[in-house]
Amino acid sequence: MNDISNIARLSEPLKFAYWVPNVSGGLVVSTIEQRTSWDFDYNKKLARIAEESGFEYALTQTRYAASYGADKQHEATSFSLALLAATERLKVIAAVHPGMWHPGVLAKYIITADHISNGRAAVNIVSGWLKNEFINFGLEWLEHDERYVRTEEFIRVLRGLWTEKDYSQAGKYYNITDFTLNPAPVDVPGRAHPEIFFGGNSTAAQATAGRVADWYFSNGKDLEGFKENIAGVVAASGETGRGTEAQLAAPRFGLNGFVIARDSEKEARDTLREIVEKAHKPAVQGFRDAVQEAGASTKDGKGMWADSSFEDLVQYNDGFKTQLIGTPEQIAERIVAYKKIGVNLFLTCYLHFQEEIAAFGRDVLPIVRELEADLARRNGTELDLSQTPVASASSTTGLVNA
Ligand SMILES: Cc1cc2nc3c(=O)[nH]c(=O)nc-3n(C[C@H](O)[C@H](O)[C@H](O)COP(=O)(O)O)c2cc1C
Repeated sequence: MNDISNIARLSEPLKFAYWVPNVSGGLVVSTIEQRTSWDFDYNKKLARIAEESGFEYALTQTRYAASYGADKQHEATSFSLALLAATERLKVIAAVHPGMWHPGVLAKYIITADHISNGRAAVNIVSGWLKNEFINFGLEWLEHDERYVRTEEFIRVLRGLWTEKDYSQAGKYYNITDFTLNPAPVDVPGRAHPEIFFGGNSTAAQATAGRVADWYFSNGKDLEGFKENIAGVVAASGETGRGTEAQLAAPRFGLNGFVIARDSEKEARDTLREIVEKAHKPAVQGFRDAVQEAGASTKDGKGMWADSSFEDLVQYNDGFKTQLIGTPEQIAERIVAYKKIGVNLFLTCYLHFQEEIAAFGRDVLPIVRELEADLARRNGTELDLSQTPVASASSTTGLVNA
């Protein structure tokens, strides 16, 4: 195994999350039939299916303006709270932009959500790429790397207010003086405070996540691409001494992937081909133009979407690049190959969310667990499933044939 095997934690089972379709149009910008809806009733049912299918997390999206196939959107924090109230075990991660929220207001909001849900609230801090959302709201649009300066301060405020009394922090963007939030977040064993996820791919994003995030989320990547991302985050985290005693725990890694599990590899590949052939071309092209504000605008030109082809962008978080496409066995093998290089969590999306999440829990997850157990044993340890949600779905639907 390679030099980052220490973060692969072979005894720890992989965790699974899904993207909440709280924006219209599904997770691919394509006119292919998608039995996915953005409304609350659909999402409530989906969340319950997911928690019964072995999923531990759901991630909402934050989008304020009609854009690139997503004509309608539900606000992320309120939607997350409603999903928490509708479920029993699922942890729901609300996406938030620092430039749109004051961290103290968000800290308070999430504490309330945490109490309502008995310790299941989490956040995904996203630094933003859709310039017009900020400009048309009359908010300042910071230059790329400066957005991460603000994000880092924002996360420090959140953590400070969640863990300390009389918290003060003086900075460029936020000044907090002697603040105590009462109540504090729920005391959950093994969790210091509501988990702080962080989405971004650029060099600045990796460095910021390495310093302050609990979880680093990446867009879809092939194995080599994700190794590079992990190395960037680990380097920044190492410089701050994270992971050693009395310090912040080392960051963990989540990767996006679009799942197409079918009875045969050919069927799965045909589905991918159809998604891309039926791409909504003007929307994908418009998206491609807008995302130049992301990694492509930085000095080294690296970052989210910087090297994405037209086909990649049809799934707007590069989910095809992860190649979770084929039979359940092929997908499970691919998933475990990523575990070997350090992925701790898979963030998944689908064409037909309800049916395919149930099918994933039934057909793919058991193979993943077998392969993980085998991998652990071969490396002299045991897979510890004692803290892992198990699939209890009695669903009888077969694999989805689109
Ligand atoms: C898993 C994940 C989820 C994201 N969710 C959102 C979101 O809901 N809304 C948003 O505006 N940007 C979202 N982003 C985009 C990032 O905040 C950021 O703008 C993007 O990574 C581009 O910046 P970069 O090139 O610095 O990585 C997400 C990114 C990732 C990886």
